[in-house]
Amino acid sequence: MIKAGLEDVVAASSAICDVNGTEGRLIYRGYDIHDLAEHSTFEEVAYLLWFGRLPKKSELETLVKELANNRVLPTGVVDLMKKFPPAASPMEVLRTATSALSMYDPDGQNDNHEANLRKAIRLTAQTPTIIAYWDNIRKNKPMLAPDPSLSLAGNFLYMLTGKKPDEISTKSLDIALILHADHELNASTFAARVAAGTLTDMYSAIVAAIGTLKGPLHGGANQEVIKMLLQIGEPAKASATIHRMLDEHKKIMGFGHRVYKTEDPRAHHLRMMSEQLGKRLGELKWYEMSREIEEIILKEKGLYANVDFYSASVYYMLGIPEDLFTPVFAISRMSGWTAHVLEQLENNRLIRPRADYTGEKNLKYAAIDNR
Ligand code: COA
Repeated sequence: MIKAGLEDVVAASSAICDVNGTEGRLIYRGYDIHDLAEHSTFEEVAYLLWFGRLPKKSELETLVKELANNRVLPTGVVDLMKKFPPAASPMEVLRTATSALSMYDPDGQNDNHEANLRKAIRLTAQTPTIIAYWDNIRKNKPMLAPDPSLSLAGNFLYMLTGKKPDEISTKSLDIALILHADHELNASTFAARVAAGTLTDMYSAIVAAIGTLKGPLHGGANQEVIKMLLQIGEPAKASATIHRMLDEHKKIMGFGHRVYKTEDPRAHHLRMMSEQLGKRLGELKWYEMSREIEEIILKEKGLYANVDFYSASVYYMLGIPEDLFTPVFAISRMSGWTAHVLEQLENNRLIRPRADYTGEKNLKYAAIDNR
């Protein structure tokens, strides 16, 4: 009997990412996430995911340039975005604009491996532009041209805020992007692989992934976390609110994980960043409140904070609007999704599992007037 939600079912072979839920380890292509978070950059990690090994200096320089030079959106996509209702959620906008991008891709319907690699680079380069531009459009702010001298993280903050970010902000976002880049067969990656397995195009697979990430049980959790922190408002109010939520059997967003039964290794880095950014701003309350909630949930429910819990306060302190938190997750995961699509296509077979039928059998068809 298969457990609900395909728990523990191994549904693909992959050499991209290994999640060890009992030891709390996360590995990209053989490298521990702690090493990558401490020493690497998001661009280098994207290379690692796509090409299966760390780049040499010149290879990284080439990819950095390609990512920087592909940030501009086709005018048709920008014009389309300007027609969206201002209240559209950024994830809806990302989903629809990404779908539209496919019609402007210079490689068109060409979906050989080299063309798909170029599409992966374009998608990863253009996602931050879509998100920053949407925030500009809905707030009637100027839409800045991307700055190719900045890293992907730095340029996103620049286009979003209109100011060149300082080193700490850029580095914090860059680490957050490294931490979110891939996570084995999470729901959105699985959705992308299922779509790719039909031999549809890369964009269709990515649109399926974006729609899947949007859900509050997946990438939508980080936005729910900040809503909760803002509602609580003060560390002194955290304990009473959380205990009340637990008494009401409410799920506390940012806790629990299908695979990790111990600390999520990504939470460690985000927790440190939350403290550092709080100290820099002279406002430690978001970090302190988060720490308090973390202790309560561990004590009362035995659940650990996941990647979404501390990323919420980190993004908030970086000045990122709350409803862009899940899109920021998508900026990073785009590298992992596209790596999985490329891997799926390398050795493709249609993904078509079976269902255990639990419905009625042998019913006799009755004419509509006799029901
Ligand atoms: N708060 C309170 N209780 C939680 C919980 C949370 N965040 N996460 C799990 N639980 C409880 C469930 O209520 C359930 O209890 P029960 O057996 O008494 O009914 C039990 O733990 C198992 O939870 P379940 O939802 O079945 O686990 P899952 O493996 O299907 O779900 C998540 C994993 C991540 C979807 C789940 O932990 C969750 O909803 N977390 C909050 C959303 C979130 O942060 N998502 C981002 C994941 S990175």
